[in-house]
Amino acid sequence: MHDIGILGSGRVARALAGKLAGAGHAITIGTRDPARAAAAWAGARVALRDCAEAARRSAIVVNATPGDTSVERLGALREELKGKVLIDVSNATLRGQDGLPSGLLYASGSVAERLQAALPETAVVKTLNTMLFTVMADPTSLRVPPTAFLSGDDENAKAVVRRLLGDLGWPEGYIEDLGELATARGPEAVALLVTAVVRKRGLAPFAFTIAR
Ligand SMILES: NC(=O)c1ccc[n+]([C@@H]2O[C@H](COP(=O)([O-])OP(=O)(O)OC[C@H]3O[C@@H](n4cnc5c(N)ncnc54)[C@H](OP(=O)(O)O)[C@@H]3O)[C@@H](O)[C@H]2O)c1
Repeated sequence: MHDIGILGSGRVARALAGKLAGAGHAITIGTRDPARAAAAWAGARVALRDCAEAARRSAIVVNATPGDTSVERLGALREELKGKVLIDVSNATLRGQDGLPSGLLYASGSVAERLQAALPETAVVKTLNTMLFTVMADPTSLRVPPTAFLSGDDENAKAVVRRLLGDLGWPEGYIEDLGELATARGPEAVALLVTAVVRKRGLAPFAFTIAR
């Protein structure tokens, strides 16, 4: 059982919190406004705190906030995130008028590497950003097995995240460890594919995968 903080209280946070709480973890949602979030999360097995407190009381923290402002937001929590595992599921994209990705904010890098540079005492692991939020916590629901890509410089942190993926329902064979954190550039670039796929197929659950 882990104390897990999830920063952000949107679609990704809700999907992950439900499944991880069901697996026995203690979940704290980090929100800009705990009082406002209380109604939306009524009945959920989570604690609601501001982001600093959510990070402080958790050993593992998930970044489920908008990726284009994550570095500034989480960079301000360096003390709170010291010694922690940070799971980054964000996509740092520029957005078109329809709100879908129109480009990469960090075109020659990745938000995951930016977060690691801003948080040198934290182990950043990138995963789960290449699928609709529903699939993150229900990976066996698709007809074709999805892939959970994993990138990170700290092997122990990646092992922790791998076990949490198991708690989210990911079979071992669906997890692809790409290597060091810089490999997150690949999965992050996949965000560019999302735009055309969603325009064509709508928001039916989907994920990108390695087919062999
Ligand atoms: N949705 C997907 O299918 C999907 C798939 C892959 C990756 N992602 C990535 O996962 C992250 C979360 O996605 P999501 O779909 O859960 O987003 P969302 O529904 O918009 O939720 C994001 C949450 O972040 C918090 N937040 C903090 N600062 C914010 C700001 N300046 N503007 C807006 N929200 C802010 C908000 O919670 P409070 O108001 O409580 O603070 C908000 O509920 C994003 O980086 C996204 O790119 C999403």
